[in-house]
Amino acid sequence: MGEPFVTARGLRKVFHSRGRDVTALDDVSFTLARGETLGLVGPSGSGKSTLARVLMRLIEPDAGAISIDGEDWLALRGRALRQRRGAIQMVFQEPLAAFNPRATIGGALDDPLRIHGIADRADRAERPRRIAELLERVGLPAGFAQRAVHEVSGGQRQRVAIARALATRPALIVLDEAVSALDVSVRGTILELLADVQKSDGIAYVFVSHDLAVVRVIAHRVAIMDAGRIVETGPTPGVIADPQSAMGRALVAAVPRLDFGRDDGA
Ligand SMILES: Nc1ncnc2c1ncn2[C@@H]1O[C@H](COP(=O)(O)OP(=O)(O)OP(=O)(O)O)[C@@H](O)[C@H]1O
Ligand SMILES: [Mg+2]
Repeated sequence: MGEPFVTARGLRKVFHSRGRDVTALDDVSFTLARGETLGLVGPSGSGKSTLARVLMRLIEPDAGAISIDGEDWLALRGRALRQRRGAIQMVFQEPLAAFNPRATIGGALDDPLRIHGIADRADRAERPRRIAELLERVGLPAGFAQRAVHEVSGGQRQRVAIARALATRPALIVLDEAVSALDVSVRGTILELLADVQKSDGIAYVFVSHDLAVVRVIAHRVAIMDAGRIVETGPTPGVIADPQSAMGRALVAAVPRLDFGRDDGA
């Protein structure tokens, strides 16, 4: 098999807030192969988003190591870090919320192309073509480029967010509660889209969710978090069928359809 694509070892993060120490990550380790999805599940405050943000280098851990594609990811600084950033993308729950509501979807997709210098060398006429291509990949018509971000539905906005993440041809996408705000039916179509994109591009996902029912659909392996620690990890069907940790059992029990009648091939 060779070395995993992502290896995290002994990650630790303590927040100091209002005179209190909160250990958000406590000796967290995991591996991730290319094209694989690791589901990160746990209750509110268990450290999922902190781990996501550490992976993205949005916050620095107090201890631990991350290697990505054989490279010491936490040692990258300055220009080298900027050059590699496009290789990892993130999709949040409301990823376009920060946008000026009048900004167009085309503009939102143009940013990563410019920032990462992807369409710089190509002539300017190339950019609308790349944007149309990205929209098509996520099942939206090219005409969406002219629409304003706030005019489209939540599901469509999440498709745009995925297109935006794909713009830099990432090898890893970290999704933090990316489908949690969507209706169940829309959620299903977005999960299908993510699975299709993964199959064609071999992208690895770290898929964060508090909901094991959602993670079950998309994750090859699951890591259960509790109070900053990964308390259980394994292939998703096995963990769901026979959780070994107290938190694993609690999460399985919280999804009634998972708790009985697991004869649906899942
Ligand atoms: N910037 C911060 N300053 C202080 N404490 C923080 C900060 N960010 C997170 N924490 C604390 O760290 C712990 C883990 O938070 P985190 O956001 O990673 O949890 P989570 O699993 O993503 O929860 P949720 O499911 O609610 O999103 C919590 O106790 C949280 O209050
Ligand atoms: Mg969170």
